[in-house]
Amino acid sequence: MTSIVYLNGQFLPRAEAKVSVDDRGFYFGDGVYEVTRAVNGHIFESQRHMRRLDRGMHELRLEPPMSTDELLDVHAQLLHENGLEQGEATIYLQITRGAVYPRTHHFPPVGTPATVFLSASAFNPPHEARSRGVSAVTFPDYRWSRCDLKTVNLLPSVMAKQHAVDQGAFESIFVRGTAITEGSHTNFFGVIDGELRTYPNSNYILPGVTRDVVVEIAHELQIPVSETPIFTHEVPQLEECFVTGTTSDVMPIVKLDTGVVGNGKPGRITMALYESLAARLAAVPVASAQ
Ligand code: PDD
Repeated sequence: MTSIVYLNGQFLPRAEAKVSVDDRGFYFGDGVYEVTRAVNGHIFESQRHMRRLDRGMHELRLEPPMSTDELLDVHAQLLHENGLEQGEATIYLQITRGAVYPRTHHFPPVGTPATVFLSASAFNPPHEARSRGVSAVTFPDYRWSRCDLKTVNLLPSVMAKQHAVDQGAFESIFVRGTAITEGSHTNFFGVIDGELRTYPNSNYILPGVTRDVVVEIAHELQIPVSETPIFTHEVPQLEECFVTGTTSDVMPIVKLDTGVVGNGKPGRITMALYESLAARLAAVPVASAQ
């Protein structure tokens, strides 16, 4: 089936969707994006995603092109257009500061319309990889100091993920100085002395929606949680570790660089957190019942 995308007010076949060569997303990476997960037509944690998007646009002084409710209506309509109201799907949303000629670094004139693009795809959660656990490799975190903004400037993440692929690993884990910050497209958690630790929300990591849900679940399950960095010298002490993200859920890491983590199998705390997250995903109401 041909995929239908949304571009600037229109639903149209992917092959017919064209963006100007003068788009500031193309020139400067001047835009923000979100990736959301739909289960049976319902966007998981939609308000958290929309809050993060709003904050990003505010910080970048990007005028929101429509209200949150209108944007969520576009998400719902897009799922419908693609026959994805049942089962699992991901939705990619990108908003850039529009297209204007000639190319200038400073903002375009007031009233330049933003470019708004959405695309949806069927999604198969990575259950098989999760049952075995995956490997990860460390990579220097040479990104800028506003990693909290979900901008389309993803070159360091692309370089990091390719490094992982080259090594046959699932993910690259960024290290800033000696602190583990997050993955190329995921947040990182470790368990040391029974305590769950993850880098604190700050300008050095993306405030992951899944990260925040997992921290909430850990409190519910009375697992001790500390939002403090894990340093590279502590890696040998890791009893368990995992990454979180919209397309990874909770993914156990059983090998980090050359070291086996714990007993080399997905850890007990990791899987308890995954089971609770999976229950929340499964509990989302069907679209027609909303
Ligand atoms: N990536 N950290 C980074 C750098 C990310 O790019 C992402 C998400 C996350 C996890 O955030 P969340 O739990 O909200 O998905 C953490 C998306 C999925 C992507 O770029 O495809």
